[in-house]
Formats: sequence, C-alpha cells, structure tokens
Amino acid sequence: MGTQQDISIDVPIIIVAHRGPVTFSLSPEGSRVVERGSGGLVTGLTGLVTKIRNAMWLCSPITEEDELVASEHPSGTFEVEVPGGAVQIRFIPTPAEAHQSFYALIANPLLWFTQHGLWDLSNAPSITASDRLSFENGYVEVNKVFAEATAQEVMNKGGRALVMVHDYHFYLVGSFLRRRCPDAFLLHFVHIPWPQPDLWRVLPSWMREPLIEGLLANDIVAFHTERYARNFLLTCEELLGEEVDYDAYTVKVGKRTVAVRWYPISVDVKAFEALASSEEVNFQAERLENIRREFLVVRVDRTDLSKNILRGFEAFDKMLDDHEDLAGRVTFLALLQPSRQDVDQYVEYMEKIRRLVADINLKHGNTDWQPIDLRFEDNFAQSVAAYKVFDVLLVNPLFDGMNLVAKEATLVNARDGVIVLSEHAGVHDEIGRFTITVHPCDIQQQADALFNALMMSAEERRRRRIECLKVIKENDIDNWFSSQLEEVSRLWKSLAAPH
Ligand code: G6P
Repeated sequence: MGTQQDISIDVPIIIVAHRGPVTFSLSPEGSRVVERGSGGLVTGLTGLVTKIRNAMWLCSPITEEDELVASEHPSGTFEVEVPGGAVQIRFIPTPAEAHQSFYALIANPLLWFTQHGLWDLSNAPSITASDRLSFENGYVEVNKVFAEATAQEVMNKGGRALVMVHDYHFYLVGSFLRRRCPDAFLLHFVHIPWPQPDLWRVLPSWMREPLIEGLLANDIVAFHTERYARNFLLTCEELLGEEVDYDAYTVKVGKRTVAVRWYPISVDVKAFEALASSEEVNFQAERLENIRREFLVVRVDRTDLSKNILRGFEAFDKMLDDHEDLAGRVTFLALLQPSRQDVDQYVEYMEKIRRLVADINLKHGNTDWQPIDLRFEDNFAQSVAAYKVFDVLLVNPLFDGMNLVAKEATLVNARDGVIVLSEHAGVHDEIGRFTITVHPCDIQQQADALFNALMMSAEERRRRRIECLKVIKENDIDNWFSSQLEEVSRLWKSLAAPH
C-alpha cells in the first residue's frame, strides 16, 4: 500500500476537473454551507490532493455561492478544508451561456451518452446547426478559458509543472496547453468508458476529430481499464489514421509519442474506514436498521441513465413475482442523488423512476410493507451507512468507467453482504470474480442474481468478501496515484534525454 511519501513528485501539480472538491451554498438561515462535490471523480481525488505537496485544483464554480466565493478571492486561489486536510482551489468562472451549452448540451448529454452507449439511434441524437454553435461557443470556449487559466498557473510556477486534466469536459485543453506551455507534462485522465470507434462515428467528424486530437496533445492519456485504453488506440488508428503500437500502448503523432495507460481508481482505505465509524454515519446506520425486515437490498447512485436504475427495479419486481414467500421480508433501499437536473433527459429519467417505484410498491406492497424505499437525497453519511448494513448491493450500470460505490461498500460492510455487479462496470475487471455477475439488460438474470445473493450461505459470503477486500486494499488510492507519478517521472526523463 502507498504511503504519504510515495505520492510526491518534485514539480507543482495542477489538477483540472470540472467539479471541485467542494461546493458552497446558503442554508435556509442564510449562512454559507460547504458541501462535498458529487460523483466518483471528486470522491477519488479529494482525499488524495490533501496529501500532495504543491498541488492545486482548478474547477468550475457550480452554484451562485461558488461564484461569490470566487469573486472574494481576486488572486484566484484559496484554501478549503476537506476531510483529511486542506486543498488549494481556484474557481474558473466562464460566461453563463457558454457554460450552459458546454455542460447541458455537449458534455452531458452528447459526450456522456456517446461514451456510455446510451443513444437510441433511431431517435437520437439529431445534431443541428444550433448544436454546432453550442460546440463552438460552449465546449470549445469553456475549454479555452480553462486552458488559459491553467497556462497562467503553469507560468506562475516557472513553466515546469505536471498538469493532470480530468474527464470528458476538457478534451481540448491539452491542445491549447501544448502550444502555451511546452515545458509542462500533460496527463489527461478519462474517468468514463472509452467505447469502440464505431460508437464515436455517431458524432460528426467536425466534433469527434478535434476531441481525439485534443487528447493526443497530452503526454499520457489514461483510463480505468485496459479495454478502454485499447479502444482508444483503435479509435486513433481508425478515425484519425494515426500510427498505433498495440504492444507498447502508444500513438505516434508527428515526432511525439503519446502513452496510453490504465490505472484503476480506488478508495482511500483508512480515511473511508474512519468515516464509516464516525458518529454521524453510526447514527444514520441505526436509523436504517429500523427499516430492515429480514433482508436489505441497497443501491446508491446518482440518477444517471447509465446507472440502469429502472431495470434494477424491474429485476426486483421479477424476484418478488418469482418468490412470493419473500413478500414482507425484503426491502430495497434506493438512495439516489438527483443529478444534472439542467439536462432534459435526466429530468425525465427521475420521473420514470418515481412512476415505476410507485407501480411496484402498489403491486406488491401493503399498508404494513412497501418493498422499495426510494429516497432522492444527497446525504453522503446516509449512503455510507447503507454501505454498512446491506445484505445485497445492486450495482448494475449499463456502462460505467469504474464505479467506486462497489469498492467503498465492500470495504465497510458489516454483514458480509454480496454484490450483484454488472459485467460492464470498470470495477468488474478487479472484483467481478467475488461478486455475482449480471448483464445489465437481462432482467431475469438480475432477478435470479438478487435472489441467489440473498440466499447465499454465510461461509460463502464471508469467503468472497475477504478475497475481495484483499484486492481493494492492495490497490488503494495512493497506489493509483503513485503509479501515475512513477510513469510521469519515467517518461518525462526520456523526453528530456537526447534522441
Ligand atoms: C462522473 C464523472 C465526473 C462528474 C460526476 C458527477 O463521475 O466522471 O466527471 O463530475 O459524474 O456529474 P456532475 O455532472 O454532477 O459533475
């Protein structure tokens, strides 16, 4: 396992990610409240950056209060307290209209849907002239503003810095930065799936080509799994005609060689265990115990279409149809954080979830027992409490870059709970053999898996969890990060060496 000393490198590190580690809001009483940012990327990076000397995090203000906080720090950078220490952050404001196009029209849904295979192609996407404008005046514009701010920070630090750009929001930052900061080392980490080239063909070449070229301006392009890395190589070869080496995992772009790598992100084991035994989480866990009948099935997700929430409920419904004796004995607790409510498809999705759950509860429930306990809330302590008390955790995404819920929940579960896991979650590569694997579209298979998980013997559950824990603890978040730094140091040296 890595240690604090492991995760350092002798240059400043600039992290660029759309979401920051925290967002600010106003309480009903009017005082400023700091909350953790949502999503796996923030979870993974937050604890980590507190341990890195000389790191800063550039991100977008999300709320109005964030904007206000940004304006209170004219120099840009300020420090915030997060669990585990302090982080230097800088909010990068962008014009509201450009940001809306960037976030709600291009990054989500166009890129997100393409990379998660979410299109129903006979209906969507229909890409219009207005989408092209949204791309140019929104996505490109916001990327330019971020690249400019990043370049300033690199220059402030003498030109030599490691820039780590994260995710699908910023595929163009690398190409802008490459020109401005020739001495910086650029790594882009893509946290979501990278699909095969044919799925990229859904987007017109005027959009997809600059995005891929933008990524190729980096020194390293990184993913969570080998399959995504391989798909990226295929994409570069087929869509851009680049020279690709499938053994070395590199792409030759003119005189430069871009390394394509995979590092499965993980959890800060100690910090997460400490969080799980905190007073607040214990309090929430006691409350959740009150809803337990004999068995508790849990899912914890953002209300994202890729999470496949509807089919999960359909499978639960099917299990109750198939096993009438389970009536009144099992509850499905679904903790769903409302997500991206400025994107139409996400608003509709929440409504569909609400309706389906009402139907299932009406069909199977009675005045004494409601089979599904649906909570649309962003309550992190309650989610961690649910990780501790589940008997079965359902993680059935259609496609998911990694899915940290499965790792976090395994780490702190107190009942040797079983994970029912989609074969299309990145985390399946690491822990699939200790879970019950399901295909995310196969309802009957998921229904059977839920049932088998509930019925699994105590010895088998324990055996699987112990094995699974070993894997998770071995590759913890420090290890994830130090492996990247090792590769950066190695490649940076070879760039400097005379050729
Ligand atoms: C995923 C993405 C992140 C994103 C998060 C939450 O985990 O990989 O980049 O921040 O979802 O989505 P949101 O749109 O709320 O930032």
